[in-house]
Amino acid sequence: MIELDPKHDRFLQPLMATLEQVAAIFERQLASEFPAVESLCSHVSRYRGKMLRPTLTLLSGVAAADGDLGVLESDDLRRLSAVFEMIHMATLVHDDVLDEADQRRGGETVNRLNDNETAVMLGDYLISNAFHLAATIGDADLTERIGRVTNTLCEGELIQLHHRDDLGLDLETYLATIRRKTAVLVGACGQLGARVAGGTEETAAALGIFGEHLGVAFQIRDDVFDLEGETEVVGKSVGRDLAKGKLTLPMIILLDSAETVTFADAVEAFRQRDASAVLQLLRDADATGKAIAFAVEQVEAAKSAIEGLPLGGTEDLLRDLADSVVDRSH
Ligand code: IPE
Ligand code: IPE
Ligand code: MG
Ligand code: MG
Repeated sequence: MIELDPKHDRFLQPLMATLEQVAAIFERQLASEFPAVESLCSHVSRYRGKMLRPTLTLLSGVAAADGDLGVLESDDLRRLSAVFEMIHMATLVHDDVLDEADQRRGGETVNRLNDNETAVMLGDYLISNAFHLAATIGDADLTERIGRVTNTLCEGELIQLHHRDDLGLDLETYLATIRRKTAVLVGACGQLGARVAGGTEETAAALGIFGEHLGVAFQIRDDVFDLEGETEVVGKSVGRDLAKGKLTLPMIILLDSAETVTFADAVEAFRQRDASAVLQLLRDADATGKAIAFAVEQVEAAKSAIEGLPLGGTEDLLRDLADSVVDRSH
């Protein structure tokens, strides 16, 4: 769960209670009569993450309904929240295969617990169930939009794979990649959460942009964790980006600003997959600090996107949620 100031309890308490209902929908949807399937699904249900995507979906619904907490009773909004978490979970199960990661959410990844074959099929089972559940909302246009989001997400992961070990990767391509693999889904939580709750087009669009900026900031924060975080704190394998030749914002900033000697050292450290040498160079150049500053700009852009909109008293909570995307410990 995301940690937020208890001063928001008027909204947070009902939101947390609804997230439990969302988790129940998630588990019910995945239920299988076959123990082999059931045990895998209970593994992914047991290790719950921060629930950013369903939280933003529900909160955007409340905001778009002018602060009316009654929308949290909407089965459609709850199902949509579960759909987004399931899509997210599917991408994580597959991503852990790509990254050969062992740890996720404080537990073992499916590829570690079982094997790659099982993780590939479980990821497919999750994405298939996400669309099965989405179809029960009975809004073809909504399902079509969700399909477009997952197409984009896969494009993002494919672009990223294409640029493995590309030391010429520029900021623009990095941003285009993380927008697709991460931000478009978070944007959809804001936009479609608002839409399902009956919000105006204007509010839904603004919450969509809010979510996209949050997604970009979130991925940059995550990329910094991967370079300087610890598995015990972050709850998942770290150092995988370097291990897999993935350049992220701190490294792009370092290579972009480095003097000739430092540039050569950075290239060498990267090629050797020397995590401590890379980290030292990043710190010397304050490249992780600059990456975080970039993420904070995205958070501010998110806040600007909703400025002046009538959001039924959720404005402060939305702004704090935006800050928490960068200001977090895991
Ligand atoms: C991890 O997402 C994948 C990224 C987009 C960086 P989260 O950090 O939201 O994962 P959970 O859901 O909290 O485990
Ligand atoms: C992948 O990014 C996020 C997806 C959209 C699947 P990462 O590879 O950085 O995610 P983590 O760090 O493993 O959670
Ligand atoms: Mg990964
Ligand atoms: Mg990561």
